[in-house]
Amino acid sequence: MTQDGEAPTPAEVAPPGVNPNVPHSARIYDYWLGGKDNFAVDRAVGEAMMKAIPGMRYMAGENRKFVHRAARDLVAKEGIRQFLDIGTGIPTRPNLHEIAQQIAPETRVVYVDNDPIVLVHARALMISSEEGRSEYISADIHQPQDILTDPVLLETLDLTRPVGLTLIAILMLLADEDDPWSLVAQLRDAMPSGSILALTHPTADFNPAEVDQAVAAATGAGMTLVPRTKEQVARFFGDWELLEPGLVPVSGWRPDSPVENPEAAYYWAGVARKP
Ligand SMILES: C[S@@+](CC[C@H](N)C(=O)[O-])C[C@H]1O[C@@H](n2cnc3c(N)ncnc32)[C@H](O)[C@@H]1O
Repeated sequence: MTQDGEAPTPAEVAPPGVNPNVPHSARIYDYWLGGKDNFAVDRAVGEAMMKAIPGMRYMAGENRKFVHRAARDLVAKEGIRQFLDIGTGIPTRPNLHEIAQQIAPETRVVYVDNDPIVLVHARALMISSEEGRSEYISADIHQPQDILTDPVLLETLDLTRPVGLTLIAILMLLADEDDPWSLVAQLRDAMPSGSILALTHPTADFNPAEVDQAVAAATGAGMTLVPRTKEQVARFFGDWELLEPGLVPVSGWRPDSPVENPEAAYYWAGVARKP
């Protein structure tokens, strides 16, 4: 509230660099997850997409649960002790480094996002265990070489040892014309043998009608949103070996308890190891 009791306009409360008049994926996703870091414009697009896909909030929650299960298994079963997480989003506890450091406190994580609202909250991402390290780089996946040569990344991660590369619900925000497959290939090529790629990607494969409507709501608001088929998502892994159970609906990737209808969350998820 302002001093005269009026509700503040978005422009009055938006941190520097954050445009409250243009919808942003990080803030819409925050809205679905029940966060507070979103503006009216984000909620409007988020609601329109929820109208198209009534299970949208459930889907966002299932995607986050995958982050938890994948991070846990990468550390506990695959021995991964360093992560590069691109398209981090607004901090949502537990964050990746918190899950990993609970198992192996020495784990190091570099987070990357290009949204100024995520930068505003980056401090929360950098509260690390004493033994480990957690850093944030403001950068764009369209320039993978900038990420890979960033001094913060090079100080934090040892690129001669296996890395857990996580691309969770980011690649649908890249148009086919930007060739996201080549961008991901550049990231994969920079990783040593034994590295792991974990990714999730929305798809129209399970319910084309609902997903088409949601895409129309997002693109109508000026956003890029590209659901992809299983075959298109599989290509992001290149020649890396998919770990069990393969590329599956996100809820069905090593679930903690049996899932009745894995296709109720319209995401593909997979984890693969570099030979
Ligand atoms: C839907 S959120 C996913 C957040 C988190 N990975 C998760 O799944 O819980 C997508 C994130 O990708 C970020 N993003 C979108 N385009 C990007 C780009 N070109 N480079 C880096 N980050 C990007 C957005 O700012 C947003 O924070």
